Amino acid sequence: MCGIVAYKGKKDCYPILLSGLKKLEYRGYDSAGVASIINNKINITKRAGKVKELENAINSKKSSQNCGGLGIAHTRWATHGEPNQKNAHPHLDQSKKISLVHNGIIENYDPIKKFLKSKKITFKSDTDTEVLVQLIGYFYNKGKLDFEQSVRAALQRVDGAYGIVVLNVDFPEMMIAARRGSPLVLGIKEGEFFIGSDISPIVSYTQQIIYLNDSEMAVINKNNYQIKSVEKDVALPKKVEKIDYKIDDFDKGKFKHFMHKEIHEQVTTIGNTLKARSTKNSVLLHGLSEYWEEIQSADKIYITACGTSWHAGLIGKNLIERFAKVPVHVEYASEFRYNHSIIDNKTVVIAISQSGETADTLAAIAKANDYGAITIGICNVPGSSVSRETKCGVHTRCGHEIGVASTKAFTAQITVLYFFALKLADSKKTMTKSVMKKYLDLSMWPKYMDDIKSVLKKEKSIKKIAEKYQNASDFLYLGRGLNFPVALEGALKLKEISYIHAEGYPAAEMKHGPIALVDKNMPNVFIVPKDKTYDKIISNIEEIKSRKGKIIIVTDSRDKILRDLADDLILVPKTTHYMFVILATIVLQLFSYFIAVAKGCDVDQPRNLAKSVTVE
Ligand code: G6P
Repeated sequence: MCGIVAYKGKKDCYPILLSGLKKLEYRGYDSAGVASIINNKINITKRAGKVKELENAINSKKSSQNCGGLGIAHTRWATHGEPNQKNAHPHLDQSKKISLVHNGIIENYDPIKKFLKSKKITFKSDTDTEVLVQLIGYFYNKGKLDFEQSVRAALQRVDGAYGIVVLNVDFPEMMIAARRGSPLVLGIKEGEFFIGSDISPIVSYTQQIIYLNDSEMAVINKNNYQIKSVEKDVALPKKVEKIDYKIDDFDKGKFKHFMHKEIHEQVTTIGNTLKARSTKNSVLLHGLSEYWEEIQSADKIYITACGTSWHAGLIGKNLIERFAKVPVHVEYASEFRYNHSIIDNKTVVIAISQSGETADTLAAIAKANDYGAITIGICNVPGSSVSRETKCGVHTRCGHEIGVASTKAFTAQITVLYFFALKLADSKKTMTKSVMKKYLDLSMWPKYMDDIKSVLKKEKSIKKIAEKYQNASDFLYLGRGLNFPVALEGALKLKEISYIHAEGYPAAEMKHGPIALVDKNMPNVFIVPKDKTYDKIISNIEEIKSRKGKIIIVTDSRDKILRDLADDLILVPKTTHYMFVILATIVLQLFSYFIAVAKGCDVDQPRNLAKSVTVE
């Protein structure tokens, strides 16, 4: 999985490719490379590490080169083969005529590799991708097939997923792209063509877009393009879509890290969602109107997502069941695809995704669509694959999220789910008008914003507590009900950016196993709202305390009991259930952020991770 950008036009391709790669780094950042055709040779520059390394390498060579207007580029998140220079894309075939970048996984790479080795083809990398470019080269160099036919012949023999762009020195005016399972977008401008694994590297140049479907290829030659089938040499009629989407420049403002900036942005992002999605007696989710009849009469709901978005789904389940009394199942997208869920046209499937490009989530949507479900996307990126492949949806609109650890997108997802649950409850009449009015009390929104601000103002004291625990090797995060997913999310944030092992558990379940881990060195973070679970959670704290575990409490309660039990206590303003979830989440985001900073970790681009995982 990874990011692809390619360009054909009159301009020097390198600045376009490098700026595109930077926008795609959310898909992987362990190595990057570009290939262009210079003086009838494929010229490749690759580097292990981030796009910056590649940029430095290119800039140091560049003065002596005419880079030309045809190039392909890639940023990688390793699947097959270590993240080093040798395994970075673009890859070359043996004749060094053909070069390719690839997203996805070629599942039958092993038998193809054996076949090619038997034909005296030697391999330079450990990747599945090199097998594909060598196979194209094998067909092409036999001399019977032209470039396009060779690409088609090779693609017909591979299993798995691909989004590829290929160059051939014998065709210096040509670029071929194809996809199956891995999204690709073609951008068109007078005399210029752009290809991206999503629109982010393209939108600043053109808004005329063609989304390739599975088994389609784009053949770009001189000033023309054709969309064809991978199966047969037939042209397919395809509509050019005009997209209306801008990507803001990436700017950290006064913050050292994007994650820190994005945590602080939550005052605005949550405030905007609250204001935009509500009037004093109704919820506004226009993206669902066309399907609302079916949604409100559905007999069950599945929520499917990955990572942080899955945690938002757990909170959504609680809210929807509580308000609208519809059964909700929450499943990891990667499991949803293969399990035996009962889905039909009376089922709503909500797919939640910040990026809208997560491969497992897309596969879950495809399955739900196949079964006739009403698919809803809750997604932050308009024009993304999730937005396009679900029947209807709601954009979280919290702005570009760059830090790999999701923060503002999570709280935006929860806010949208909160409104979805209220709207459904209203339609199903499971909530009285007077209760609904309480939930939609617009005069509360400014108070909510003030509460978030007051939590952010506590960051100095949160930092101090975080620094105290920076050397712990394991953490437990414990919460109940709506705050169990908050515990899971707190633990995930810590793992992602500080590499400290952390587990989230329902507070009471902790005694069925995890308590064996507790000793005097182990910090235990309890999320304790003053609600009906309060007394029980106090008992859970006592259970850890009597085993000498360290107790960190996040609460809205000023009780002396909690103060006596806690080694450290972080107090948030007294508020509603929904807002407590948001406030506690922000505390835990700051807590893990400051631990990661104290440990000197790469907060925005932690090791081994990617912002969006585009392979299954
Ligand atoms: C990756 C990211 C997580 C994210 C998950 C789902 O694992 O590192 O931060 O929560 O993907 O991504 P999505 O874009 O679908 O919400």
